[in-house]
Amino acid sequence: MKFFIDTANLDQIREAMDLGILDGVTTNPSLMAKEGISGTKNIYAHYKKICKLVDGGDVSAEVIATDYKGIIEEGKKLSDLSENIVVKVPMIKDGVKAISYFTDHGISTNCTLVFSAGQAILAAKAGATYLSPFIGRVDDITWDGIKLIEEIASIYSMQGYMTEILAASIRSPLHIVQAAKAGADVVTCPLSSIMGLLNHPLTDIGLAKFLEDHHKLNS
Ligand code: E4P
Repeated sequence: MKFFIDTANLDQIREAMDLGILDGVTTNPSLMAKEGISGTKNIYAHYKKICKLVDGGDVSAEVIATDYKGIIEEGKKLSDLSENIVVKVPMIKDGVKAISYFTDHGISTNCTLVFSAGQAILAAKAGATYLSPFIGRVDDITWDGIKLIEEIASIYSMQGYMTEILAASIRSPLHIVQAAKAGADVVTCPLSSIMGLLNHPLTDIGLAKFLEDHHKLNS
């Protein structure tokens, strides 16, 4: 399973890269705004900085346009920024049509804002490279985000769809483990959830004891 970090914060991307396990980055307009980045020129410059940091990893950059022509124009501009760029397109009618166009023209896509198996089938038919079901937001309305990943994974495997399932809107380390068990190909997570995977009290207790025993005879 690939690990992406879900942020536009350069320090957090660097920290996850330092761990040696990062395969890419996902961003969205809210995450860019959180970093205070505005204006097309600045936003594109920021994407270039992210692409430089990730050393060949995929970087999802989301279009703002919601009409077919606008999505195509914007997607091409984003894709021209770097070969790392994956054009992130919302699951709407013109978005699906645009994903088909990008697929035919060799441009990688991430179909975002996915909340149902039906949407997942449409995105796969359009040839999306990645599909982003938002599991945390599904949980927020008391449906089951992980069950959605399981359902999509089962359909994709049965139908032989090549689209990779990118579990998004991850809220905890447990979500990461559950997404892996449910058949996600990729998880995109906040830094805190990635780092949370490190934690276990028995590791801390065990390490303290090993060091204590060593130092009894070696100090
Ligand atoms: C996916 O690519 C989105 O950027 C993201 O995972 C949304 O997460 P949120 O529901 O925590 O905003």
